[in-house]
Amino acid sequence: MARSPKTRFAIIGCGNMGRALLRGILKAGLAAPQEIVITARSGMRRDAARTEFGVQTSADNRGAARGAETVILAVKPQNLATVAKDLKGALRPGALVISVLAGKTTDAIAALLGGARSKLAVIRVMPNIPVMVDAGCSPYARGAAVTDAQATMAARMLGAVGDTLEVAESHMDTVTGLSGSGPAYVYMMIEALADGGVKMGLPRDIATRLAAQTVHGAALVVKETGLHPAVLRDQVTTPGGTAIAATSDLEGRGLRPMLISAVVTATERSRELSRA
Ligand SMILES: NC(=O)c1ccc[n+]([C@@H]2O[C@H](COP(=O)([O-])OP(=O)(O)OC[C@H]3O[C@@H](n4cnc5c(N)ncnc54)[C@H](OP(=O)(O)O)[C@@H]3O)[C@@H](O)[C@H]2O)c1
Repeated sequence: MARSPKTRFAIIGCGNMGRALLRGILKAGLAAPQEIVITARSGMRRDAARTEFGVQTSADNRGAARGAETVILAVKPQNLATVAKDLKGALRPGALVISVLAGKTTDAIAALLGGARSKLAVIRVMPNIPVMVDAGCSPYARGAAVTDAQATMAARMLGAVGDTLEVAESHMDTVTGLSGSGPAYVYMMIEALADGGVKMGLPRDIATRLAAQTVHGAALVVKETGLHPAVLRDQVTTPGGTAIAATSDLEGRGLRPMLISAVVTATERSRELSRA
């Protein structure tokens, strides 16, 4: 790999998340492509990233991370042990580590990469899959050694591919259960809404388009007005009309407790996985 004089960012892992965060760095103007190196085991993945983004690529995690100001961990949790072995002792003093690995605490990452009493600065992020279309939701928590400037930089990167906010690390399992896993619940809802349309005679493509845009538009109204969803629901509920007929049916069938339960179940599962 031909190295540039300065590597600002090393991204370990070139999948959905690694590529999305790479786009975030570039969109936020945090580094030029030649100041970023991204790694993967597969040559095809590396070639694709080099062609699409003009960044440096490497199969050598240790070489990539050495000297980088920020190292982003974007591999699956089962690959962490190998990557940690590669990186241990290679990070420059003052480097920031940003991890998107589900269930891995900032202390655990610092200990793995820097040793038991490590003062390594680690930010832990729980992005969700819409970062792929710059509409992600990426709450983050910072470890004790992270400076305000490092947190601000991370927020700029995450904000370039969607919404972001800082949360206490104790909330990370809950955000995993809500926004991290949430796209799966919403996809089920979109599919079911479309099924309703198809059942009543709409072609599938039209039904899916209407369902997706309805979810998108309703979410935008919640965000842009800042009004409580119950107030907005009341606004579209005409006495004796169609919406109240449907929403009272949904209440009777338990949509609300079902969704609350989904978030609780996913949060508990995230806690279990964190302990494993
Ligand atoms: N996807 C989500 O919705 C989501 C949401 C929140 C958090 N996350 C977290 O994000 C992380 C990545 O998920 P993803 O969806 O981006 O996975 P992915 O698409 O499978 O990407 C993982 C990447 O890691 C690379 N990799 C594996 N072992 C490596 C090694 N030893 N050295 C260098 N690169 C290596 C893989 O490349 P090769 O196979 O070519 O080596 C691949 O590019 C996970 O820890 C997950 O918990 C994901």
